[in-house]
Amino acid sequence: MATTTKKTTTTRVRKVTVAGEGAAEKAAKAKKEPAGKKKILFVASECTPFIVTGGLAEVIGSLSKELAKTGRYDVRVILPLYSDIKDEYRSKFNYKGNLYVHLAWRNQYCGIFEYVQDGVTFYFLDNEYYFKRPGCYGYYDDGERFAFFCRSVLEVMPFLGFYPDIMHCHDWQAALAAIYLKTNYCFREEYQYIRSLFTIHNIEYQGIYSLDLLCDLFDIYGRYKYLVEYNNCINLMKGAIECSERFSTVSPTYAEEIKYPFYSHNLDPIIRNNEFKLSGILNGIDVEGYNSEKDTHLYANFTADDMSGKATNKAELQKLVGLPQKPGTPIISMVSRLVSHKGLDLVTNVLEELLQDDVQVVILGTGDQQYEGFFKYLAGKYPEKMSAQIQFNNDLSRKIYAGSDIFLMPSKSEPCGLSQMIASRYGTVPVVRETGGLNDSIKAGQNGYTFANYNAHDMLYVIKQAVNDYHDKALWNDLMKRVITTDFSWTKSAGEYEKLYLDMLS
Ligand code: GLC
Repeated sequence: MATTTKKTTTTRVRKVTVAGEGAAEKAAKAKKEPAGKKKILFVASECTPFIVTGGLAEVIGSLSKELAKTGRYDVRVILPLYSDIKDEYRSKFNYKGNLYVHLAWRNQYCGIFEYVQDGVTFYFLDNEYYFKRPGCYGYYDDGERFAFFCRSVLEVMPFLGFYPDIMHCHDWQAALAAIYLKTNYCFREEYQYIRSLFTIHNIEYQGIYSLDLLCDLFDIYGRYKYLVEYNNCINLMKGAIECSERFSTVSPTYAEEIKYPFYSHNLDPIIRNNEFKLSGILNGIDVEGYNSEKDTHLYANFTADDMSGKATNKAELQKLVGLPQKPGTPIISMVSRLVSHKGLDLVTNVLEELLQDDVQVVILGTGDQQYEGFFKYLAGKYPEKMSAQIQFNNDLSRKIYAGSDIFLMPSKSEPCGLSQMIASRYGTVPVVRETGGLNDSIKAGQNGYTFANYNAHDMLYVIKQAVNDYHDKALWNDLMKRVITTDFSWTKSAGEYEKLYLDMLS
């Protein structure tokens, strides 16, 4: 791979830019001395169980735990201390101290709290002006909030005496940590050996701001403008791709797809220019957390060898969502944000046609009004066949995963997707479009049904095929067994991250 050439260049640049040859040698020695565990710092804007809005949180929570479990890494995660972090956790955090963080002309308080769980050390950065608000995102000053967060990540390192070997930044909210490392900090002795990895979980949100904010808000010197400038704006995701040693995304297929305009949200030229340092690693899920054998949210637990409990879950689910209790009618479910890239235009086009068959459909999620309204309308028109649960509800989602037969996920684009894996853990058979992580996790004829083109009737055709197969009990039992036993644990993928980290450090 071309990677090696480029990486060596980056390393060399760093070595000559530290304060004098003596300092570089001293730091190199210090780095080599203790063999010990490699130090990994995850920089992210959410993490289970503390604060969750989507799949990113699940990945940060479960991957960090899995890496710590190997015993080979000192894994730490750094997050903003949002007011939505519940007291049940917050009351256990230990106050470590505070410092003041400079960002352009600003000088802001930054408190540091620490909490250790499952072998992972979590740091929460406290500033009530920025983070004492409901939710995580969507404020007029998100750029400033996450600039403060990222600058603080680098500023708290001396305070904690913790300089990671790998700083692993996730999505645009953490992009500035990689940018600041490259533009300001790597010239200092203690920071010079930190390698940064930037992971894209969703390329749709890039952190785009006016160029006027370069110095005044983001505190980036004019000479580094070229690193973050894109289409006449500041683009933080582009900056992190340029500034990181490597970057990755959450499935091999998505890593290919984002090289093309259809998937890249305009970033494809940057992805292609940097493809020598791009990898795609499929996410795993927390298979203990999603376990049909132990999940306490279910009406009855079941295993791959004895799936009889699934029928109880189905009957209770039908009762709960107001559908007739028909054991022989397949339930097709979706648990999804109700937004266009989840493939909802396909669904709205053919759902009524599907409802003419002997099926039941359960949809759980919130999102765009047009989809919420359409699903509510159809549920009103077909009360015996369709239930629209317009809400975000973890307990109900697990009951749906366990109680339904077929799980539909026809995304237009899907970096990885976790729901198809979660549904599988409950023996519910996925029907997916062959894109991103859906393409890497679900294989037609093995553990689900797939279709390739973004076309409503192609989707309807495979759903009908699945419904047909559902009535062949032997075939379906066999398929459910393969689905529920598919390995979606982190074991393999955490190993791939390890390889990538070690490669970056070699
Ligand atoms: C984002 C993506 C989703 C992925 C998740 C975790 O939410 O949209 O596909 O599974 O991040 O990486």
